[in-house]
This record gives sequence, structure tokens and C-alpha cells, in this order.
Amino acid sequence: MRIVAALGGNAILRRGEPLTTARQRDNLSLAARALAALADAGEIVVTHGNGPQVGLLALQAAAAEDGRPTPLDVLDAESEGMIGYELELALRNALPGRSVATLLTQVVVSLDDPAFTRPTKPIGPVYGAEHARELASAHGWDIAPDGDGLRRVVPSPEPLRIVELHAVEALLAAGCIVVCAGGGGIPVAETGGRLEGVEAVIDKDLASALLAEQVAADRLLLITDVAGVLLGFGGPAPRLVRETSPDELRRLSLAPGSMGPKAEAACRFVERTGGTAVIGPLEGCGGMIDGSVGTIVRRTGIPSLRMPR
Ligand SMILES: Nc1ncnc2c1ncn2[C@@H]1O[C@H](COP(=O)(O)OP(=O)(O)O)[C@@H](O)[C@H]1O
Ligand SMILES: [Mg+2]
Repeated sequence: MRIVAALGGNAILRRGEPLTTARQRDNLSLAARALAALADAGEIVVTHGNGPQVGLLALQAAAAEDGRPTPLDVLDAESEGMIGYELELALRNALPGRSVATLLTQVVVSLDDPAFTRPTKPIGPVYGAEHARELASAHGWDIAPDGDGLRRVVPSPEPLRIVELHAVEALLAAGCIVVCAGGGGIPVAETGGRLEGVEAVIDKDLASALLAEQVAADRLLLITDVAGVLLGFGGPAPRLVRETSPDELRRLSLAPGSMGPKAEAACRFVERTGGTAVIGPLEGCGGMIDGSVGTIVRRTGIPSLRMPR
């Protein structure tokens, strides 16, 4: 069985935690131990988020470069390297004897994507209103509300094609667990046969769905910090959706910056490939393979989950 497991940013940095290397390393080590439960199921591709990290790298770069901004594609690549290294190390330690390889991954987007005129993707820390406005005018950022504060927002175009697809296939064929498409990958535009980096951050759930489709995965696992899709989320008695179809899932109105993209990613993968997607928690994520954990998304009329080959 071929599995694409998309690791939520909360597994790398929990809400409200300061972004320190030590904290990130501890969290990734816990995440790797949880992901190890998937290793016997077959070929594994791991993707991950980068929202807090890419924003922090932008601040560090601005300080070092005397205020001149470093392009976001370069920061995306830095975050893929930084998180990929820590995750690869942790996976090797959690799974002695398994090969793990991290791949910088470029993802083609269209320069005509309406996202470029409407930045929506929050990156970096949450700031108080005054501090956020100061930073926005100093760096030319767009900012938008997030929880109690404000965050920088950047364009998040649709992922269209994974550039390194053949390299991912080759690494899987060589028996590696592949860490790739971190933070949704590095956005690039294709003009006249040439690739060029683009200032944006691609949604990692949508990039993971595209990757899962393009590597013909059997399962797409969207791993996060909740039991799955909850009805009445935030209310007194939330209820887990155990199993659903893309049509049903699309009818729920889910939060655009968090559960929404996961549901959309699951729907796209299931609709386009006939495979199964599962949205569920990091702890016990092994149960997302046999269907005992999370929200299972599949086409209606498809019999229950097969156990791994
Ligand atoms: N209907 C819902 N069911 C479950 N979680 C939801 C729902 N709506 C919003 N959420 C939020 O979605 C979060 C997961 O998405 P997100 O914060 O983007 O995490 P990740 O880093 O895993 O991508 C949960 O922690 C929860 O706060
Ligand atoms: Mg998210």
C-alpha cells in the first residue's frame, strides 16, 4: 500500500508554543514516533506544514538583510530543509534500519491565479494590533485577523504539478520513506519552458492531495490535532464524523483556514482517484490505516477498508 501522510503544523509547533529549535525537535521526535506506526503498511511519503516557521525565517532574514525582504520561495525552501532535516533525523531514530530521504520539492502554480491579488494564507506569529500594523508598514505586509490578534497573510495559489515527481517515485522504489512537499512545496511558475520561484506559500493539505494523486497513492492521511471532522465544533457536544463521502463533506461548512482545506484535500483525492482519505489525530495515527481512527472519506458504495497488504 502507498500512503501519503500530511503532518499538520501543530505537530511541529503546538498553538501558543514559542518557536525554538529545541521545542521543534522534541515535537518532531514525538511526531516521528507516532508516524512509525504507519511504517509496516508499505510505502510512505510524509509531507508537513511550515506556516509558523516560514514567517519566523522571514523575520530573521529581514533582520540580517537590513530590512530588505528575502523572497518567499527562498524562505519556503529554507523551511523545507530545516523541518525536513529534523523530521528525517527523528524518523531514522524512530525506525532503525529504514532509509529516509528528504527532497526539496517545487510545485508549479499559475501566475494568473486569483490568489495573487487576494492574500489569505497566515504565516508567522500572531501579533497584537499595534505591533502588527507597525510591522506591516515597515515590511509592506498584508495582515489579517487570526484568533485574538493579527498575522501576516500571503498569496496561496492552487498547486498544479509536482516538479520532482519522478525523484519521489525513484526514492520510493529504493525503499526510502520520502519527506517532501514540506509547507506545500516551493511555488514556481513555468514560463516558456523555464521555472522561476514565486512569492507565495501553497496550502500543504492541497499540495499533499495533488502529490497523493500524482504518485497514485492508495491513502491520503491528513494528520492533525483533533479526532477528525467534528460536527458542532466549538459547541458543547461536538460529534465525530466517522465516515463520509466527498458530496456529504462538501455540504458541511468548515473553517476556511483550518479544517476547510483538509476536507477539500480529502474530497479532491477521493473524487480524482477513487482512493480513501482519512482526517485524524497524530496520536494513534496507525489506526487511520485500518479505519479505526479519524474521519474516513471515500466514494459511496465502496466496501469497507482493506487491511494493509
Ligand atoms: N469542524 C471541525 N472539526 C474539527 N476541527 C476543526 C473544525 N473546524 C475547525 N477546526 C480546527 O481545525 C484545526 C486543524 O487545522 P489546522 O489548525 O490547520 O491544523 P494543521 O496544523 O494540522 O493543519 C483543529 O485544531 C481545530 O481547531
Ligand atoms: Mg492547517
